[in-house]
Amino acid sequence: MGSVKGLVCVTGAGGYIASWLVKRLLSDGYKVHGTVRDPHDEKNRHLKKLDKAVENLKLFKADLLDCDSLLSPIAGCEGVFHTACPVPRSKLSDPETEMVVPAVTGTLNLLKICSQVKVRRVVVVSSGGAVAMNPNWPSDKEKDETCWSDKEYCKSTGNWYFYAKTLAEEEALNYGKMNELDVVTVMPCMVIGPLLQSTLNSSSLWFINMLKGTQKTLVNKGMSLVDVRDVADALLLVYVKPEANGRYGCASNWLKMDDLANKLKNIYQNYKYPTSFTETTVTKGMSPKKLKALGWSCRDIDSTIADSVKCFEDAAHL
Ligand SMILES: NC(=O)c1ccc[n+]([C@@H]2O[C@H](COP(=O)([O-])OP(=O)(O)OC[C@H]3O[C@@H](n4cnc5c(N)ncnc54)[C@H](OP(=O)(O)O)[C@@H]3O)[C@@H](O)[C@H]2O)c1
Repeated sequence: MGSVKGLVCVTGAGGYIASWLVKRLLSDGYKVHGTVRDPHDEKNRHLKKLDKAVENLKLFKADLLDCDSLLSPIAGCEGVFHTACPVPRSKLSDPETEMVVPAVTGTLNLLKICSQVKVRRVVVVSSGGAVAMNPNWPSDKEKDETCWSDKEYCKSTGNWYFYAKTLAEEEALNYGKMNELDVVTVMPCMVIGPLLQSTLNSSSLWFINMLKGTQKTLVNKGMSLVDVRDVADALLLVYVKPEANGRYGCASNWLKMDDLANKLKNIYQNYKYPTSFTETTVTKGMSPKKLKALGWSCRDIDSTIADSVKCFEDAAHL
């Protein structure tokens, strides 16, 4: 248990990754301002029950598209962790309004306030999606921080989430350079692991659907996975390490979809799973080398799977 540290802000505090980050920050002795869109919504209730939340966590009502609402939670903070962003579950009817504007304009709104308030460092949660969609990257080569998703390719394949995350990360790093604001980005790949909140986020739903075999046929692509608790550790690590800079890939295990299904089937025989896999060009996942050099370590995928399934079963999500 650490002594009382500085004041930091976490945007979208009630989200899946953010909740674990807030928990970790509180347990390390930070005072935390969390932004949520509705402090009275049931889905944020778990935050108030976190250890030390009564003394050290204050929730603020804020929307990324309302600059004035962002000022109070960020004022006085030495650091900001920007996690808030829509993560769609289904096809978007208006991608620009529903995805691109909150991701890109929302991030820039936040950074402007951070400059105004003279925040020491801003950690922006990007995504493996800002790396993975690059058809020119050799398929047999692990991706690293020099690899950016091709925005036109994302758009032409209808992948508006990856498009928005790529553009938002580019803009965030450019904004940092142009305005002498210390901006560091982290790109988690597919995040699984136990939930702190009662509601389901998109990546947990993806994992549950894998167990349930909701989609009978899956494209047999490779995917990098990472534990949500290790993502929270990564975000804090890049915040505290003075030498951290630029982008950080955040991935632990890379698996093909049929290998993941078989791994799960061997442990949990009572679920249905996809029954067929269509072969595709398998591209390598993301390297966590840069993050590991900073001191990051991660759990074994088997313990992440066990903790996830237990959590989903206990909460009757499975
Ligand atoms: N989970 C993954 O596999 C994964 C992988 C890579 C990157 N990421 C990134 O990690 C971050 C957190 O994702 P998550 O998985 O934790 O998702 P999540 O549980 O859905 O959390 C997203 C949060 O963003 C907030 N938000 C959305 N639009 C907002 C707006 N206009 N103003 C203020 N807040 C807004 C949501 O608040 P409400 O509750 O009010 O809607 C929610 O708290 C996102 O930036 C996502 O792109 C996630």
